[in-house]
Amino acid sequence: MLNKIKLWKNQQQSSSLHERMLQIEEQPVPSHVAIIMDGNGRWAKKRALPRVAGHHEGMKVVRKITRLASKMGINTLTLYAFSTENWKRPKTEVDYLLKLPEEFLGTFLPELIEENVRVTMMGYKENLPSYTINAIEKAIQDTKDNTGLVLNFALNYGSRAEIVDAVKRVLNDCQKGILESDEVNEDLFSSYLMTSDLTDPDLLIRTSGEIRLSNFMLWQLAYSEFWFTEVLWPDFSEQHFIEAIEAYQNRQRRFGGV
Ligand code: FPP
Repeated sequence: MLNKIKLWKNQQQSSSLHERMLQIEEQPVPSHVAIIMDGNGRWAKKRALPRVAGHHEGMKVVRKITRLASKMGINTLTLYAFSTENWKRPKTEVDYLLKLPEEFLGTFLPELIEENVRVTMMGYKENLPSYTINAIEKAIQDTKDNTGLVLNFALNYGSRAEIVDAVKRVLNDCQKGILESDEVNEDLFSSYLMTSDLTDPDLLIRTSGEIRLSNFMLWQLAYSEFWFTEVLWPDFSEQHFIEAIEAYQNRQRRFGGV
Protein backbone atom coordinates (compact mmCIF):
# COMPACT_ATOMS: atom_id res chain seq x y z
CA MET A 1 0.00 0.00 0.00
CA LEU A 2 2.78 2.40 1.00
CA ASN A 3 4.59 1.67 -2.26
CA LYS A 4 1.41 2.38 -4.22
CA ILE A 5 1.02 5.75 -2.50
CA LYS A 6 4.67 6.56 -3.24
CA LEU A 7 4.22 5.60 -6.89
CA TRP A 8 1.07 7.71 -7.15
CA LYS A 9 2.86 10.69 -5.55
CA ASN A 10 5.78 10.32 -7.99
CA GLN A 11 3.37 10.18 -10.92
CA GLN A 12 1.57 13.30 -9.71
CA GLN A 13 4.87 15.11 -9.27
CA SER A 14 6.21 14.22 -12.69
CA SER A 15 2.96 15.14 -14.42
CA SER A 16 2.94 18.53 -12.70
CA LEU A 17 6.62 18.99 -13.68
CA HIS A 18 5.67 18.15 -17.25
CA GLU A 19 2.86 20.74 -17.19
CA ARG A 20 5.18 23.38 -15.78
CA MET A 21 7.75 22.60 -18.49
CA LEU A 22 5.07 23.07 -21.15
CA GLN A 23 4.16 26.45 -19.64
CA ILE A 24 7.81 27.50 -19.52
CA GLU A 25 8.17 26.68 -23.22
CA GLU A 26 5.48 29.26 -24.02
CA GLN A 27 7.72 32.17 -23.01
CA PRO A 28 11.38 32.94 -23.69
CA VAL A 29 13.74 31.12 -21.33
CA PRO A 30 16.92 32.87 -20.14
CA SER A 31 19.63 32.39 -22.71
CA HIS A 32 22.44 32.19 -20.15
CA VAL A 33 21.97 30.91 -16.58
CA ALA A 34 24.84 31.14 -14.08
CA ILE A 35 24.78 29.24 -10.79
CA ILE A 36 26.70 29.64 -7.54
CA MET A 37 26.33 26.11 -6.21
CA ASP A 38 26.57 26.68 -2.47
CA GLY A 39 25.79 24.66 0.64
CA ASN A 40 27.55 21.34 0.02
CA GLY A 41 29.45 21.54 3.33
CA ARG A 42 26.32 22.31 5.36
CA TRP A 43 24.42 19.52 3.63
CA ALA A 44 27.12 17.05 4.70
CA LYS A 45 27.36 18.46 8.23
CA LYS A 46 23.62 18.03 8.76
CA ARG A 47 24.11 14.33 8.05
CA ALA A 48 27.33 13.99 10.08
CA LEU A 49 29.19 13.24 6.86
CA PRO A 50 32.56 14.65 5.72
CA ARG A 51 32.29 17.87 3.68
CA VAL A 52 33.46 16.07 0.54
CA ALA A 53 30.33 13.89 0.66
CA GLY A 54 28.38 17.09 0.06
CA HIS A 55 30.54 17.94 -2.95
CA HIS A 56 30.00 14.46 -4.36
CA GLU A 57 26.23 14.78 -3.96
CA GLY A 58 26.49 18.25 -5.54
CA MET A 59 28.16 16.72 -8.58
CA LYS A 60 25.09 14.52 -9.16
CA VAL A 61 22.91 17.64 -9.11
CA VAL A 62 25.14 19.15 -11.83
CA ARG A 63 24.15 16.24 -14.08
CA LYS A 64 20.43 16.65 -13.35
CA ILE A 65 20.37 20.41 -13.90
CA THR A 66 22.50 20.20 -17.05
CA ARG A 67 20.02 17.76 -18.57
CA LEU A 68 17.08 19.93 -17.66
CA ALA A 69 18.71 23.14 -18.91
CA SER A 70 19.48 21.41 -22.18
CA LYS A 71 15.89 20.17 -22.47
CA MET A 72 14.56 23.69 -21.82
CA GLY A 73 16.60 25.13 -24.68
CA ILE A 74 18.85 27.27 -22.49
CA ASN A 75 21.95 28.26 -24.49
CA THR A 76 24.56 28.51 -21.73
CA LEU A 77 24.85 27.17 -18.21
CA THR A 78 27.82 28.53 -16.23
CA LEU A 79 28.61 26.72 -12.98
CA TYR A 80 30.92 28.13 -10.29
CA ALA A 81 32.78 24.91 -9.45
CA PHE A 82 36.02 26.26 -7.92
CA SER A 83 36.97 29.84 -7.13
CA THR A 84 40.42 31.39 -6.84
CA GLU A 85 39.59 31.76 -3.11
CA ASN A 86 38.80 28.04 -2.68
CA TRP A 87 42.55 27.28 -2.44
CA LYS A 88 42.28 28.48 1.19
CA ARG A 89 40.35 25.29 2.10
CA PRO A 90 42.08 22.25 3.63
CA LYS A 91 44.27 20.46 1.08
CA THR A 92 42.20 17.25 1.21
CA GLU A 93 39.05 19.21 0.29
CA VAL A 94 40.83 21.14 -2.49
CA ASP A 95 42.20 17.89 -3.91
CA TYR A 96 38.75 16.33 -3.80
CA LEU A 97 37.08 19.30 -5.49
CA LEU A 98 39.68 19.32 -8.26
CA LYS A 99 39.17 15.58 -8.86
CA LEU A 100 35.44 16.05 -9.43
CA PRO A 101 35.66 17.25 -13.06
CA GLU A 102 37.57 14.05 -13.88
CA GLU A 103 35.00 11.88 -12.13
CA PHE A 104 32.06 13.78 -13.59
CA LEU A 105 33.34 13.82 -17.14
CA GLY A 106 34.70 10.27 -16.87
CA THR A 107 31.16 9.12 -16.11
CA PHE A 108 28.91 11.52 -17.97
CA LEU A 109 30.85 12.70 -21.03
CA PRO A 110 29.16 10.12 -23.34
CA GLU A 111 25.79 11.36 -22.11
CA LEU A 112 26.78 15.01 -22.69
CA ILE A 113 27.92 14.16 -26.21
CA GLU A 114 24.65 12.37 -26.89
CA GLU A 115 22.72 15.40 -25.65
CA ASN A 116 24.69 17.71 -27.99
CA VAL A 117 26.19 19.63 -25.02
CA ARG A 118 29.39 21.63 -25.60
CA VAL A 119 31.74 21.80 -22.63
CA THR A 120 33.81 24.95 -22.03
CA MET A 121 35.81 26.32 -19.12
CA MET A 122 36.64 29.77 -17.78
CA GLY A 123 39.35 30.30 -15.17
CA TYR A 124 43.08 30.11 -14.68
CA LYS A 125 44.45 26.84 -16.02
CA GLU A 126 47.84 27.44 -14.40
CA ASN A 127 47.92 25.95 -10.86
CA LEU A 128 45.23 23.41 -11.72
CA PRO A 129 46.47 19.81 -11.52
CA SER A 130 47.03 17.99 -14.79
CA TYR A 131 44.20 15.51 -14.11
CA THR A 132 41.71 18.39 -13.88
CA ILE A 133 42.98 20.10 -17.02
CA ASN A 134 43.26 16.86 -19.00
CA ALA A 135 39.68 15.87 -18.19
CA ILE A 136 38.35 19.31 -19.12
CA GLU A 137 40.44 19.58 -22.28
CA LYS A 138 39.33 16.16 -23.45
CA ALA A 139 35.69 17.14 -22.89
CA ILE A 140 36.20 20.46 -24.70
CA GLN A 141 37.79 18.63 -27.64
CA ASP A 142 35.20 15.82 -27.77
CA THR A 143 32.26 18.24 -27.67
CA LYS A 144 33.66 21.11 -29.73
CA ASP A 145 31.31 20.55 -32.67
CA ASN A 146 28.19 20.19 -30.54
CA THR A 147 25.57 22.86 -31.11
CA GLY A 148 23.33 22.51 -28.05
CA LEU A 149 23.75 23.75 -24.49
CA VAL A 150 27.13 25.27 -23.62
CA LEU A 151 28.14 23.87 -20.23
CA ASN A 152 30.71 26.35 -18.96
CA PHE A 153 32.67 25.36 -15.85
CA ALA A 154 34.12 28.24 -13.83
CA LEU A 155 37.21 26.55 -12.40
CA ASN A 156 39.92 28.45 -10.56
CA TYR A 157 37.92 31.53 -11.53
CA GLY A 158 37.92 34.91 -9.81
CA SER A 159 36.22 37.95 -11.26
CA ARG A 160 38.47 40.69 -9.91
CA ALA A 161 41.59 38.93 -11.21
CA GLU A 162 39.83 38.48 -14.57
CA ILE A 163 39.06 42.23 -14.73
CA VAL A 164 42.59 43.27 -13.70
CA ASP A 165 44.08 40.94 -16.33
CA ALA A 166 41.75 42.36 -18.97
CA VAL A 167 42.84 45.92 -18.03
CA LYS A 168 46.49 44.90 -18.34
CA ARG A 169 45.92 43.38 -21.77
CA VAL A 170 44.02 46.45 -22.96
CA LEU A 171 46.90 48.69 -21.77
CA ASN A 172 49.41 46.42 -23.42
CA ASP A 173 47.55 46.53 -26.75
CA CYS A 174 47.34 50.34 -26.48
CA GLN A 175 51.09 50.51 -25.85
CA LYS A 176 51.79 48.31 -28.87
CA GLY A 177 49.56 50.52 -31.01
CA ILE A 178 47.13 47.63 -31.73
CA LEU A 179 44.44 49.65 -29.96
CA GLU A 180 43.67 53.37 -29.54
CA SER A 181 42.55 54.40 -26.05
CA ASP A 182 39.40 56.06 -27.43
CA GLU A 183 38.39 52.74 -29.00
CA VAL A 184 38.00 51.29 -25.48
CA ASN A 185 34.33 50.95 -24.65
CA GLU A 186 32.14 48.41 -22.82
CA ASP A 187 31.87 46.03 -25.77
CA LEU A 188 35.57 46.11 -26.43
CA PHE A 189 36.39 45.61 -22.76
CA SER A 190 34.00 42.61 -22.63
CA SER A 191 35.96 41.04 -25.47
CA TYR A 192 39.04 40.98 -23.23
CA LEU A 193 37.25 38.96 -20.52
CA MET A 194 37.16 35.16 -20.22
CA THR A 195 33.54 35.27 -21.37
CA SER A 196 34.33 36.93 -24.70
CA ASP A 197 32.51 34.15 -26.57
CA LEU A 198 29.44 34.21 -24.32
CA THR A 199 26.51 36.52 -23.75
CA ASP A 200 26.10 37.94 -20.24
CA PRO A 201 24.03 35.79 -17.86
CA ASP A 202 20.33 36.62 -17.88
CA LEU A 203 19.77 34.84 -14.61
CA LEU A 204 21.99 34.16 -11.60
CA ILE A 205 20.96 31.47 -9.12
CA ARG A 206 22.63 31.08 -5.73
CA THR A 207 21.68 28.31 -3.34
CA SER A 208 22.03 27.91 0.43
CA GLY A 209 20.65 31.27 1.59
CA GLU A 210 23.84 33.29 1.05
CA ILE A 211 23.05 36.61 -0.63
CA ARG A 212 26.36 37.67 -2.16
CA LEU A 213 28.35 37.32 -5.36
CA SER A 214 31.62 35.96 -3.93
CA ASN A 215 33.79 37.37 -6.74
CA PHE A 216 31.68 35.74 -9.47
CA MET A 217 31.19 37.42 -12.88
CA LEU A 218 31.06 40.94 -11.41
CA TRP A 219 31.15 42.66 -14.81
CA GLN A 220 28.93 40.18 -16.62
CA LEU A 221 26.14 40.21 -13.99
CA ALA A 222 25.54 43.97 -14.24
CA TYR A 223 22.00 43.57 -15.61
CA SER A 224 21.20 39.97 -14.67
CA GLU A 225 18.19 38.89 -12.66
CA PHE A 226 19.13 37.30 -9.33
CA TRP A 227 17.30 34.38 -7.74
CA PHE A 228 18.28 33.15 -4.29
CA THR A 229 17.06 30.10 -2.42
CA GLU A 230 17.65 28.65 1.04
CA VAL A 231 17.91 25.18 -0.51
CA LEU A 232 21.39 23.63 -0.20
CA TRP A 233 22.94 22.69 -3.55
CA PRO A 234 22.83 18.89 -3.02
CA ASP A 235 19.06 19.24 -2.35
CA PHE A 236 18.50 21.46 -5.39
CA SER A 237 16.05 19.63 -7.62
CA GLU A 238 14.48 19.99 -11.04
CA GLN A 239 11.46 21.61 -9.32
CA HIS A 240 13.74 24.29 -7.84
CA PHE A 241 15.32 25.02 -11.20
CA ILE A 242 11.89 25.26 -12.80
CA GLU A 243 10.84 27.63 -9.99
CA ALA A 244 13.83 29.88 -10.76
CA ILE A 245 13.02 29.94 -14.48
CA GLU A 246 9.35 30.70 -13.75
CA ALA A 247 10.42 33.56 -11.46
CA TYR A 248 12.66 34.89 -14.24
CA GLN A 249 9.83 34.72 -16.74
CA ASN A 250 7.66 36.79 -14.38
CA ARG A 251 10.22 39.58 -14.07
CA GLN A 252 10.33 42.66 -16.24
CA ARG A 253 13.83 43.49 -17.35
CA ARG A 254 14.36 47.19 -18.00
CA PHE A 255 18.15 47.44 -18.38
CA GLY A 256 18.06 50.85 -16.73
CA GLY A 257 15.16 52.12 -18.87
CA VAL A 258 11.54 52.59 -17.83
C1 FPP B 1 30.33 25.64 -2.15
O1 FPP B 1 29.76 24.93 -1.09
C2 FPP B 1 30.62 24.71 -3.22
C3 FPP B 1 31.84 24.55 -3.79
C4 FPP B 1 33.02 25.32 -3.41
C5 FPP B 1 32.06 23.53 -4.84
C6 FPP B 1 30.93 23.32 -5.76
C7 FPP B 1 31.17 22.10 -6.53
C8 FPP B 1 30.23 21.22 -6.87
C9 FPP B 1 28.81 21.40 -6.57
C10 FPP B 1 30.54 20.01 -7.67
C11 FPP B 1 31.09 20.42 -8.97
C12 FPP B 1 30.99 19.39 -9.95
C13 FPP B 1 31.73 19.33 -11.06
C14 FPP B 1 31.34 18.40 -12.10
C15 FPP B 1 32.91 20.15 -11.28
P1 FPP B 1 30.47 24.96 0.33
O2 FPP B 1 31.40 23.83 0.41
O3 FPP B 1 31.10 26.31 0.54
O4 FPP B 1 29.27 24.76 1.28
P2 FPP B 1 29.07 25.42 2.73
O5 FPP B 1 28.94 26.89 2.51
O6 FPP B 1 27.82 24.79 3.21
O7 FPP B 1 30.28 25.04 3.54
